[in-house]
Amino acid sequence: MAGVNLAVIYYSATGTNYQMAKWAAESGRQAGAAVKVLRVEELATEEAIDSNPAWKAHVEATKDVPVAKVEDLVWADAIIFSMPSRFGNVPSQMKQFLDMTGGIWSKGKLVNKVVSAMSSADNPHGGQESTIKAIYTTMMHWGAIIAAPGYSDPSLFEAGGNPYGASVTVDTENHMIEKVEDAVRYQGARTVTISSWIKQGHSRWNE
Ligand SMILES: Cc1cc2nc3c(=O)[nH]c(=O)nc-3n(C[C@H](O)[C@H](O)[C@H](O)COP(=O)(O)O)c2cc1C
Repeated sequence: MAGVNLAVIYYSATGTNYQMAKWAAESGRQAGAAVKVLRVEELATEEAIDSNPAWKAHVEATKDVPVAKVEDLVWADAIIFSMPSRFGNVPSQMKQFLDMTGGIWSKGKLVNKVVSAMSSADNPHGGQESTIKAIYTTMMHWGAIIAAPGYSDPSLFEAGGNPYGASVTVDTENHMIEKVEDAVRYQGARTVTISSWIKQGHSRWNE
């Protein structure tokens, strides 16, 4: 769609947000975007990772997924972030990535990026909404344009009705409880579509 570059940047310990990132990437591609799926760097100690077999297996399974760099944000017109809740907040791994963007932020390179975010937690009210809102605070400081889905599609209701971004509850065996795939796919396509509107409008403005 109008030459939109989409970066789907995620953190996942046990695979949920990786799956959501892949769904969003696929729908972004179907909407015509050039897409990169990128993980933020793992910062946890080997000891912590080894103590959780699901975490260890996920780290091993995704070791070849490229690690996000700040230059990927410059490349992107649209960015979707996906990350689990950590006590209602953004995981430190994602926060560390955001904290590396000072240089490009100060050059105005993050202005007008179209962004949205997704999340997960173990409980239906375990912090999905506050985690998404937390990352949106940083997006406002960037001058990015937040494309929250609101209630603009029926799929959002099936996924639990989080208007800030698609989110899901995960059970003890890491299964997703709500039917979130369609909402994620919708959000992927919507973020790309809105980005194409901004991009086209911006180039007309500069004609
Ligand atoms: C340090 C830590 C804090 C967490 N805090 C919460 C919480 O407050 N509420 C909750 O429901 N789940 C909490 N969780 C569960 C994670 O959100 C859950 O494991 C995650 O959403 C699964 O996503 P992933 O498979 O992509 O890693 C926490 C997990 C960890 C490791």
